Amino acid sequence: MSRTVYVNGDYVPEAEAKISVFDRGFLMADGVYEVTSVLDGKLIDFGGHCKRLARSLSELAMQNPHSDEEWLAIHREMVARNDIVDGMVYLQVTRGNPGDRDFAYPANDVAPTVVLFTQSKPGLAESPAAKTGWKVISVPDIRWGRRDIKTVQLLYPSMGKMAAKQAGADDAWMVEDGFVTEGTSNNAYIVKGNKIITRALSNDILHGITRAAVLRFAAEAQMEIEERNFTIDEAQKADEAFITSASAFVMPVVEIDGAALNGGKVGPVATRLREIYLEEMRKAAI
Ligand code: PDD
Repeated sequence: MSRTVYVNGDYVPEAEAKISVFDRGFLMADGVYEVTSVLDGKLIDFGGHCKRLARSLSELAMQNPHSDEEWLAIHREMVARNDIVDGMVYLQVTRGNPGDRDFAYPANDVAPTVVLFTQSKPGLAESPAAKTGWKVISVPDIRWGRRDIKTVQLLYPSMGKMAAKQAGADDAWMVEDGFVTEGTSNNAYIVKGNKIITRALSNDILHGITRAAVLRFAAEAQMEIEERNFTIDEAQKADEAFITSASAFVMPVVEIDGAALNGGKVGPVATRLREIYLEEMRKAAI
């Protein structure tokens, strides 16, 4: 079934959508994006995604083409037009089409390019992988130094994902100066007893919207939270591990570089956090 996509104010069939070959998103990866989950036709943590979008744009000196209310209306229209019950809305804003290739940013009169599309994932919250957990491998983190900005330069994370697949794993955790930064498209955590350990926020990692919510719920559930670096070695000896992202929610990790955690079985903390997250976020969905 053909999707309806959004391009610069128009809702069009996907085959008719057009972007210039001079678009800076295409030529320079000069763009930012957000992925918002949809459960039961409603947007999950939309406010958080809007806030981070505004920050990403501002860090790159790009104009935000819409108010939060306008973004919400466009997202809802996309969900409705594509009959999305469970799935995702992908949004991308680039610095637009200056009509030629030039390293310098174009003048401010070049309008940003705005694109949205949906992905239908029936039963997204009931992913069978949540029952068996992910296996991860480690790879060096060789990305640029502003990982807090959600840009579309995703080649290295794609390479990490491919390395994981080739190794028979589900994802890769990236390691810099001996410490885990994050997964290819998610934040990484380990669990020791009642304590959840995850890297502190900085320019080294994306400030996950799911991370913020999960840490809030964990604190409310009287779990201890330690925001600090950890190594692969420490992770392999942990009681449990998991990742968070808007599309995977809370996903248990049962193996790291071949070492099984919790006997290779999904652990109780990750399972409980996933339940709480989904329950609370469904309640707050808009
Ligand atoms: N990825 N770290 C990285 C590098 C990411 O790409 C993502 C999200 C996250 C988690 O952020 P959030 O909880 O806000 O989704 C962390 C999205 C889902 C993607 O690229 O599809």
